[in-house]
Amino acid sequence: MAREFTRVGVVGLGTMGAGIVEVFARNGVDVTAVEISDAALERGRVTLTGSTDRAVAKGKLAEAERDALLARVDFRVGLDALHDVDLVIEAVPEHLDLKQRIFAELDRVCKPEAILATNTSSLSVTEISVATTRPNQVIGIHFFNPAPVMKLVEVVRTVVTSADVVADVEALCERLGKVDVTISDRAGFIANALLFGYLNHAVGMFEARYATREDIDAAMKLGCGLPMGPLALMDLIGLDTAYEILDTMYRRGGRDRRHAPAPLLKQMVTAGLLGRKSGRGFYTYERPGSPKVVPDEYTPLAADAALADGARAIAKVGVVGSGTMATGIIEVFAKAGYEVVSVTRGAEKSAKVCEAVKTSLNKGVVRGKLSETDRDEALGRITWSATLEHLADVDLVVEAVIEELSVKKALFASLDEICKPGVVLATTTSSLPVIDVAMATQRPADVVGLHFFNPAPIMPLVEIVQTIRTSAETSATARAVCAKLGKTGVVCGDRSGFIVNALLFPYLNDAVKMLEASYSTADDIDYAMKLGCGYPMGPFELLDVVGLDVSLAIQRELYLELREPGFAPAPLLEHLVTAGYLGRKSGRGFRDHTRR
Ligand SMILES: NC(=O)c1ccc[n+]([C@@H]2O[C@H](COP(=O)([O-])OP(=O)(O)OC[C@H]3O[C@@H](n4cnc5c(N)ncnc54)[C@H](O)[C@@H]3O)[C@@H](O)[C@H]2O)c1
Repeated sequence: MAREFTRVGVVGLGTMGAGIVEVFARNGVDVTAVEISDAALERGRVTLTGSTDRAVAKGKLAEAERDALLARVDFRVGLDALHDVDLVIEAVPEHLDLKQRIFAELDRVCKPEAILATNTSSLSVTEISVATTRPNQVIGIHFFNPAPVMKLVEVVRTVVTSADVVADVEALCERLGKVDVTISDRAGFIANALLFGYLNHAVGMFEARYATREDIDAAMKLGCGLPMGPLALMDLIGLDTAYEILDTMYRRGGRDRRHAPAPLLKQMVTAGLLGRKSGRGFYTYERPGSPKVVPDEYTPLAADAALADGARAIAKVGVVGSGTMATGIIEVFAKAGYEVVSVTRGAEKSAKVCEAVKTSLNKGVVRGKLSETDRDEALGRITWSATLEHLADVDLVVEAVIEELSVKKALFASLDEICKPGVVLATTTSSLPVIDVAMATQRPADVVGLHFFNPAPIMPLVEIVQTIRTSAETSATARAVCAKLGKTGVVCGDRSGFIVNALLFPYLNDAVKMLEASYSTADDIDYAMKLGCGYPMGPFELLDVVGLDVSLAIQRELYLELREPGFAPAPLLEHLVTAGYLGRKSGRGFRDHTRR
């Protein structure tokens, strides 16, 4: 018969524990909430009341419900208070010896039938379980941060966890309104195994001054639709916790260098910069525990001040190319009030692009996003041409032709001959080194990358790629142009994948490797990232949309440039591409799209 969980215990009321208490109490379960000292207990109580008060203020919880919720929680110091609970969830810091000590103590204190669960993110549940005399009643119940919000729970079953314990915990998760995925005991389980390499990589980018913290975070939020940027997420997780998770994953997960914690992390932890909980991490917060970021010495100047910083005046823009990106970019510039000269390789192509721009603008009118006058004026600003000579008097050229270095280099050499001095020459390449096209001209200081995202009229992000030859003036101009387009321009160096692709594709590749290793299914991995981390799409959904061939090509570039063994393309990805399973566009990728 299934167990009843009428009273549960939570040990450790930090970032996770306080949230876990809230989840249970909100769902009518009595909780004994345990801390190590009176002061820590009080902090836990303040976190819980703060969170429930915010829920009341947002209208998500009635006052009476909050009072009932808080009345269900019994705050205590010391594990002895847990003698009558049916289940304990431990959420103390991520140290194996500490957790083992606590489990040995819980084994002594708790009634024999109680289930003992750990919320560990990366430690071995099996190793924790053997500190007790009841390893078959030990399980991992891994909640996500913030626990009251995130729907996912990873249920971690060891080789000795009883089937009935697993079944009862799964039923409990359902009762709590959560979606559970049950997996075996591997470092990082599903979500963290895929997440932490990415987070650590982002810290490495920041540490190497590849881009600012604001730009790294904005890039991932706006380029991938993530709820938070990686550095803000590190602050939410807690840098001490993140350090321990990475360190454990490095040691347990095959010494993948990508999990070796970035040196900066250790320094920050040592300096007491733990993230939100200490009031300062990558960002500075109003006070410890507050989600509100306040300006500090690293906060960039207001956009306007940066723009005054030597930007050249741009009125007329040339766009070269006739594909999806060029079409979108023409529309973006024309709508923002720039005179646009579109150059394609022939009248027929120009007619096609013109038709596509018209169709897209008309859609804007139908959807009420654009007036008919705005549409007509935007179209009136575009000149259609099939010769580069028409770019003689533009102030900025944006190149969006085929992704082949020889073609781009030849084009830039021609632009160098045709365009007037002082013109900014931009490439939208997503994978080629910008410096290569810059050096095809006699004016590399005027060359910059402007990496738009598809569809350009909708995606709010542009990566501004500075080469080692790009002048400050050119960069400032690019930033000013992005601002006028209503886009967020993030500035980064000229490295393979820039910010977004360099952080995104290795994560997707890791998901393929996880599937290949039969650790979990594509559905569960997709669920884990959507419901545990708030991603708009799971990795396999996204791979099928982006195209497996495109993803493989980007991953190969990253691997070739950075020689990072962990970036080697997943063999399964290569095989699917060879088999012609390219994703939605071919009807089949990781999933079959012909039957949907
Ligand atoms: N932070 C996250 O985003 C996150 C997400 C999921 C899981 N986890 C996991 O949850 C666990 C807790 O992490 P956290 O971020 O909440 O840590 P935290 O540092 O915020 O909180 C840990 C709490 O445990 C208390 N504690 C320490 N020793 C204790 C003892 N002997 N008895 C009772 N309480 C004790 C501390 O006083 C502190 O309040 C870790 O295993 C972590 O890996 C963390």
